[in-house]
Amino acid sequence: MIFFVTGGSRGLGESVVLEAARAGHDVAFTYNSRRDAADAVIAKAKEISPSSKVLAYGLDVRDSAAVERVGDEVLDEFDTVHAVVCNAGVNLNGLAANMSDDDWKFVVDTNLTGSFYVARQFLPTLVRNKFGRLIFMSSLGRNGVSGQANYAATKAGLCGLSATLSKEYARRGITSNVVAPGFFETDMTKADMSESNKDFWLKYCPVGRIGDPKEVASVVLFLASAGASYVNGTVIDVTGGLDWAP
Ligand SMILES: NC(=O)c1ccc[n+]([C@@H]2O[C@H](COP(=O)([O-])OP(=O)(O)OC[C@H]3O[C@@H](n4cnc5c(N)ncnc54)[C@H](OP(=O)(O)O)[C@@H]3O)[C@@H](O)[C@H]2O)c1
Repeated sequence: MIFFVTGGSRGLGESVVLEAARAGHDVAFTYNSRRDAADAVIAKAKEISPSSKVLAYGLDVRDSAAVERVGDEVLDEFDTVHAVVCNAGVNLNGLAANMSDDDWKFVVDTNLTGSFYVARQFLPTLVRNKFGRLIFMSSLGRNGVSGQANYAATKAGLCGLSATLSKEYARRGITSNVVAPGFFETDMTKADMSESNKDFWLKYCPVGRIGDPKEVASVVLFLASAGASYVNGTVIDVTGGLDWAP
């Protein structure tokens, strides 16, 4: 299969890229600004699976024209795409009363609008193939987290977007699902509220530990597989059993 993964240069997206390569798939993935990080992921993927074609594309998902351009480049290079993983995301935390227009817009444009642009870009290809897997990276935070009004709204929005696509395109062989991770140590969580989040997680998560990014990637790979053909319009929590956040 051919995967398209946004935000594959670091964190959870990197893990999806590497696990897809490990399973023998080809992967086109994007980064926003860190070409160095993307190159390092390509090198790791080559080591894991020398026969997989793994290429990186610079893309700011907030820019619909750029999504179109990169989408065309990927289709030129790979011929087609089977699984689209809308993973790129950011957070910019603050209490709602103090949240600026810019902070709201930055997160909504990246997490929600960017994911819509990417899904829309590849839908004609998936329809033509009569096969497709749309996978959106939401979060436990979709249920609301103090200090993350913008982030939580986008993560809930992705569930509505995916549920809609799951209805519009299921009869064309396309499924649409959401993966909702809990707490994983990546640059995103290291940068903000790391220690308090970590303490909370270790105290209340039934599994008693922070997740390994591979534990998200394996769920993404399952949803992309032929075996997941009747899994559609759902949200899979990957949280070690914790279903709330403060
Ligand atoms: N980590 C967690 O515990 C956790 C929990 C729940 C949900 N999630 C979700 O999982 C996804 C990945 O999170 P992460 O922790 O792996 O984040 P991360 O380590 O901060 O990586 C973010 C990725 O998104 C890319 N990106 C950022 N802004 C972009 C833009 N405007 N256009 C295109 N790409 C952009 C980055 O590219 P560059 O490398 O070029 O900057 C990077 O590849 C996000 O959607 C996040 O909300 C994470």
